[in-house]
Amino acid sequence: MTQPFTVLEVDEVDSTQDAARERMAGSDPAVVIAHRQAKGRGRSGADWETAPRSVAVSVAWTSEWEVSRLTLIPLIAGVAARRTIGEEVRLKWPNDLLVGEKKVGGILVEAREATVVAGLGLNLFWPEPRPEAVGLYPADPGPEEGPRLATAWAEELLGLVDEGAERWPKAEYEEGCVTVGREVSWEPFGRGEAVGVGEDGSLTVITESGVRRSLTSSDVRHVRPG
Ligand code: BTN
Repeated sequence: MTQPFTVLEVDEVDSTQDAARERMAGSDPAVVIAHRQAKGRGRSGADWETAPRSVAVSVAWTSEWEVSRLTLIPLIAGVAARRTIGEEVRLKWPNDLLVGEKKVGGILVEAREATVVAGLGLNLFWPEPRPEAVGLYPADPGPEEGPRLATAWAEELLGLVDEGAERWPKAEYEEGCVTVGREVSWEPFGRGEAVGVGEDGSLTVITESGVRRSLTSSDVRHVRPG
């Protein structure tokens, strides 16, 4: 059974990541859902720009996992998103959510000591999206859809966390992952085919010279469709 968690829904917050961390303060997992963020954070310090109808959600909890296993959290957050939203969402390793080839959402995981905060930003309806982005729905689903999906995602994620790192759904991640089976490139001069995901969540590639390698997300600066 998933551990109990509290949910706070707000109209706007600076970042749900910080709000969830503050709210948890050592007790039950805290979920914070916002319709808008003034200072939403993307990966690598980038701003997170979203659709006019979008949802931001973060879950903060005290982790009992070994620190070395926390690299799996972005991947299981992706599996939780797919289970919640539907199989039209595909996962670009390690943690982008795509519909077709366009980004519909993103996941950010921040861990400090034993506190882990996993955030999901999801574009629901975007009439004039940036070229590489898309909204999930062709029409505005209204203000309740985001919190509904966000709460279901948080519950699914916490359930997967409770199952433990040893039981993470690797095959399900690979099944939903567009990167597997594609040509990928990585800095500085790597190129090869992604053939799967390792037990530790790394990307397994066969290089152009036939060598099998495991890449962490810090190795891969760029993963392109082949
Ligand atoms: C990415 O760069 O693709 C990750 C984006 C993650 C955005 C989400 S929205 C909810 C949570 N709050 C934040 O400030 N960022 C994450």
